[in-house]
Amino acid sequence: MALVSAKEMLEKARDGKYAVGQFNINNLEWTKSILQTAEELRSPVILGVSEGAGKYMTGFKTVAAMVKAMIECLNITVPVALHLDHGTYDGCYKCIDAGFSSIMFDGSHFPIDENVAKTKELVSVCNHLGLSLEAEVGAIGGEEDGVIGKGECADPEECKKIADLGVTMLAAGIGNIHGKYPADWPGLSFETLAAVKEKVGNMPLVLHGGTGIPTDMIKKAISLGVAKINVNTECQLAFQAATRKYVEEGKDLVGKGFDPRKLLAPGAQAIKDCVKEKMEIFGSIGKA
Ligand code: 13P
Repeated sequence: MALVSAKEMLEKARDGKYAVGQFNINNLEWTKSILQTAEELRSPVILGVSEGAGKYMTGFKTVAAMVKAMIECLNITVPVALHLDHGTYDGCYKCIDAGFSSIMFDGSHFPIDENVAKTKELVSVCNHLGLSLEAEVGAIGGEEDGVIGKGECADPEECKKIADLGVTMLAAGIGNIHGKYPADWPGLSFETLAAVKEKVGNMPLVLHGGTGIPTDMIKKAISLGVAKINVNTECQLAFQAATRKYVEEGKDLVGKGFDPRKLLAPGAQAIKDCVKEKMEIFGSIGKA
């Protein structure tokens, strides 16, 4: 199956009261583990690529070529969107050119009028090409690949301005943070989420910072209109722990345990387990 825009899968998720996971990819192992898990569980999936990860993988063209070829070679039949995560204005055009099926323009650090103007331009480009577009208002706290946010909650009026432009999905800051949550984190602001939902109506909402959010908060967020949840750090931590265990147990020293296909196998399995657990919580299993 060819890459698809995220529009249809997110509208179905919104109507069906579940969320589609966006799992960020870093390399071949990540991509393979996520695609295989989605196929096995019959779940739609969004592969997220930050600009830093795109650069690490030598460029967005490499990423798009790898993902498209892997979908074909692995016989993936569930809907897969390849999505730029927290894109800059230039990054959006690079990904459009490279063949991504979904784009996020993160203009949240601009004054609202500039965010509106740039998002509006990208809405028309993406609509023309049949790509989905995510926009952001407010800021996701913490740091992801050099994108630093203070974590301020979105202004519902500003959310309406951006939603009215016709974006496919909207990320609104509701106290969510990239990376691990601090012990004194007050939790998601459901007050903000409800106020945003009231202003933007049926627009599928996106929850960034999916790592470490308690299940009850995830479920409540879904009930209030969240249809896409982004997870990155949790897969990285799972991969790290499994790889550390393999090495600490000295398995890389036995026989051909140094073979990268063996060395990276426990980490790849850990990513699969992490994606499965998230898909169960998000309710996307069997929805492909
Ligand atoms: P986490 O790294 O906290 O899971 O956040 C991922 C994310 O929001 C990607 O945009």
